[in-house]
This record gives sequence, structure tokens and C-alpha cells, in this order.
Amino acid sequence: MKLQLYVPDGRYAPWIEGFAEVLPEAQCLTWEESRDAQADFAVVWRPPVEMLRGRTDLRAIFNLGAGVDGILRLRDDDPAALPAGIPIVRLDDAGMAAQMAEYVSAAVLRDFRKLDAYATQAAAGTWKFIKPHRRADFTIGVMGIGTLGSHIARTLAQFGFPVRGWSRSAKHVEGVQPFHGDAGRAAFLDGLRVLVNVLPLTPDTENIIDADLLARLAPGAHLINVARGQHLVEADLLAAVKAGHIGAATLDVFREEPLPAEHPFWQEPRITITPHISALTLREDSIAQIASKIRALGEGKPIAGIVDIARGY
Ligand code: NAP
Ligand code: GLV
Repeated sequence: MKLQLYVPDGRYAPWIEGFAEVLPEAQCLTWEESRDAQADFAVVWRPPVEMLRGRTDLRAIFNLGAGVDGILRLRDDDPAALPAGIPIVRLDDAGMAAQMAEYVSAAVLRDFRKLDAYATQAAAGTWKFIKPHRRADFTIGVMGIGTLGSHIARTLAQFGFPVRGWSRSAKHVEGVQPFHGDAGRAAFLDGLRVLVNVLPLTPDTENIIDADLLARLAPGAHLINVARGQHLVEADLLAAVKAGHIGAATLDVFREEPLPAEHPFWQEPRITITPHISALTLREDSIAQIASKIRALGEGKPIAGIVDIARGY
């Protein structure tokens, strides 16, 4: 069995060693060394179009992340970029849900417990009580309650916050008030104190966080974007922060990454910036998941995480 790998940073050795340990029957080749070779499976993150266009040999393409926009966007410039009939399989949690829940909980609790205000006071040597928020006033909405979002929502509900979730189809997540579809969107957003975005990037969700959406949140609301930069209309967020309607934003993802040095977000103290780290692809977990799916496919068993290409996620 042959696996063909592509990672943009070119650091193949740990991936090849990892697959050799878990799937010793597989020969692991880098894309650069095997351009003309056939393979059974491709394992990729943001691959070049030449790697996939016209392939008929592959049995599946494994994406080294949860979001598949890096593969599906190849069709923007070349409608035939993706080989027909070859399943694309995304990572399904693989250790990302726990990381996301930690990241989002940290941002929410920092805000709810006013830790930034206390840090400012402490820097000035000030010992002073600040009136706390009421938990009941701190409604949190999670946009996208799939693999990652449902875990985030459940975690936040365990702190006792009122939590709402929004999905495309009707969903039940314990402790979370469900909303779905275009019809449920306005009621989901209405008066949220915190909005967490963990949607996939699709034509339906691009630019979804715009002036109209932000205006529906509670005054002083906190936006947490851990999904994709293209979900957010950046100028609309800056305007809403400057107007005081949005009190804080915690952003892990951006239209352009790394965020350019001259970007106005760097100058806005109410915006917290992290470099796309809210849920890292964990090598060991990812290799174990892909290896077990390759074995399942070999045994003719169904696997989770096959992307619905028409739906975009
Ligand atoms: P997932 O399991 O596919 O869940 C996606 C959720 O979004 C589902 O609940 C889906 O609804 C909902 N959704 C999709 N389109 C919608 C629409 N038009 N309207 C309303 N709801 C919609 O995906 P996941 O594994 O949780 O990952 C989500 C995203 O997180 C990824 O696509 C990726 O972009 C991002 N991510 C970011 C990082 C990071 O480090 N920043 C790391 C990993 C992932 P249904 O349940 O009805 O299908
Ligand atoms: C990371 O952004 C991912 O989609 O896994």
C-alpha cells in the first residue's frame, strides 16, 4: 500500500516515522519525490492543484485538518481540480475538540470574571472590587454545533451559562438551546453576550459575521472567531468595536495569515489575536485516526468524516 503525503512546511520526517509505526505495511512517499507515481491514499494539508487534478489511482484523500476549504477552494480557479468519485475525508476531532473547548472557555471566563480589568488595576497597585457580571445575563451562542462546536457548547453549559447552538439541520446537544437554518438565525443571535463562530467555510457561511449580524448581539458583546478569517467582514467588526457596540473580540483566524504587521487589528486593544492555534492538528492522534480509517476501508467498513462536496463540508 502506498501513501502520498503533502504538508506545506515540507517537514515530512515525523509524519513518515509516525505512519511507519502505526501502519508498517504502508510505503510513505512525499509528493515531491513521487509526482509521477501512483498511490492508494493521499494525506494532505492545503495541497497544490497538480497533486489531485485528474487522479484515478487514489482510493481516498485524507485532509490533515477539520476544515476542507483548503482543498475545495482548488475548484475556484479550476472546476476540474478535484478528481471525481474519490472521497475526501476530514479529521473528525482527533484531539481538536478538547483544545477548542479550552481556548473558548479561557476567552469566555476571562471576560465573565473581568480578569483584564483586574490585571489593569493590579498593574497600578489598586485593590478594588468590580461589580461582577450576572451569569444569567451572559448568554453564549455557538454558530456551528458539529464535532467541535457541540463539545464547546457542552463545556460552556457545564459552567452554568445559558448556551444556544445554531446548525444547518436540527440538532440536540445536552444543555444547549437549539436553533437551525435561516429561519432560526435571528432568534439564535438575538441579544447574545458572546458569539462563538466554529462554522465551516462554505459559500453559505463566507462573510456571515457582518454589520447586520453584529448589530443583533447585546451591547458590549464579545465575538470569538475560531473558524476561518473569511467568515468575518473585518471592517464591520472594527467599526462595531470603535462604536462600542462590540466590547471585545478574540480572533484566532484571519483572511490573511500571518496577519500583516500593518493590519489595524494589531492596534485595537479590545481585540485579542492568536496565530491560528485554537485547535492544532495533533500528529499522533491524526495518524492514528487516518490509519484506523484506512484499515476500515480495507475491510469494507464505513468511516466517519467523508466530506459532502456539494454541501462544502
Ligand atoms: P463539522 O463537524 O462539520 O460541523 C460544522 C457545523 O456547522 C455543523 O453543525 C453544521 O450544521 C454547521 N453548519 C454548516 N453550514 C451551516 C450553515 N450554512 N448554517 C448553519 N450551520 C451550518 O465541523 P467541525 O469539525 O466542528 O469544524 C468546524 C470548523 O472549525 C472547520 O471547518 C474549520 O474551519 C474550523 N477549525 C478551526 C481550527 C483552528 O485552529 N482555528 C481548527 C479546527 C477546525 P449540521 O450539523 O446541520 O451539518
Ligand atoms: C484547522 O484550521 C483545521 O481546519 O483543522
